[in-house]
Amino acid sequence: MDTDGSNRPEPLPSSAQLSWEGHPRTLIAGVSGLLGHALTRVFPGAFSFWFDVTDLGACRAALGSIRPEVVINAAAYTTVDQAEAEPEAAHAVNEQGAKNLALACRDIGAGLVHLSTDYVFDGLADRPYLESDPPRPLSVYGQSKLAGERAVRKILPKALIVRASWLFGPGKTNFVKKMLDRARAGEPLRVVNDQRGCPTFSLDLAAAIRSLIQGGHQGLFHVAGSGEATWFDLTRAALEAAGLDPARVEPIKATGLDLPARRPAYSVLDCRRYEAATGRTMPPWSESLAAYVRGLV
Ligand SMILES: NC(=O)c1ccc[n+]([C@@H]2O[C@H](COP(=O)([O-])OP(=O)(O)OC[C@H]3O[C@@H](n4cnc5c(N)ncnc54)[C@H](OP(=O)(O)O)[C@@H]3O)[C@@H](O)[C@H]2O)c1
Repeated sequence: MDTDGSNRPEPLPSSAQLSWEGHPRTLIAGVSGLLGHALTRVFPGAFSFWFDVTDLGACRAALGSIRPEVVINAAAYTTVDQAEAEPEAAHAVNEQGAKNLALACRDIGAGLVHLSTDYVFDGLADRPYLESDPPRPLSVYGQSKLAGERAVRKILPKALIVRASWLFGPGKTNFVKKMLDRARAGEPLRVVNDQRGCPTFSLDLAAAIRSLIQGGHQGLFHVAGSGEATWFDLTRAALEAAGLDPARVEPIKATGLDLPARRPAYSVLDCRRYEAATGRTMPPWSESLAAYVRGLV
């Protein structure tokens, strides 16, 4: 079982570490995050140490010492509500940080895989979002992530940009873990039932990123767990998988929480481009959730 908590690994700016055998020499930024943790498991031998992506000099130093062929940017400012109060901090990481990594990649001829989000959409669609659908973020977080995508594309038109959604997985606390902890503590569970998206297992996403890299794919891809759910559905399924009573979960409207950031009511991602490119489909979120929860209990 994985521990939860975000232990920052010691910096390892050494090119002595073995490369990901048989695959491109890979550097992961944002290694202490939820996705970063999954990437370190799916990309064994990849270089992964913390450096500040908001500092162009630090990015250049990290890439200059490792000389990766591929950099995966899983570093991000992800506290969606807090971002409303500190847009500069969100843009520093999600826009400037993305730009810095793209510039540092361009310097050494490395490819960049950049992560983005379903929150670039306004949620007004009545069918799953395609990569070609116009983004219109509702929050500072979404705006900063979209600005990051655009900065990356401008500097590295061939970058691989992956929009993911609603992550859960080992290594760091996340929505599912929080709901299970609250359930076990006997706390009330009032959960939003009017926002619909695609819960995604971080290890499934990391494996999908590996497939895209192995296939040499470029451009924008939506990658999310198969199926869709509301946060209420996801919570009920998590409790069920943990052997707890799902009837304890009470559905509420998002307005009932009065959170600072607006979120899309509907942000289901259409992953057909990913499927066509790789010949793979993402596992159903409900199956991956059950496997994840089994590992937690
Ligand atoms: N979580 C989701 O539900 C979700 C949904 C859709 C898309 N995404 C996207 O997926 C990607 C990964 O998200 P995640 O959930 O893994 O995020 P996360 O758990 O919040 O991790 C973010 C990582 O970024 C690092 N970071 C923050 N500021 C940094 C800086 N200035 N320099 C270097 N590293 C920095 C953090 O390190 P410290 O902990 O040391 O600060 C952490 O390792 C992001 O691009 C996110 O926008 C996430």
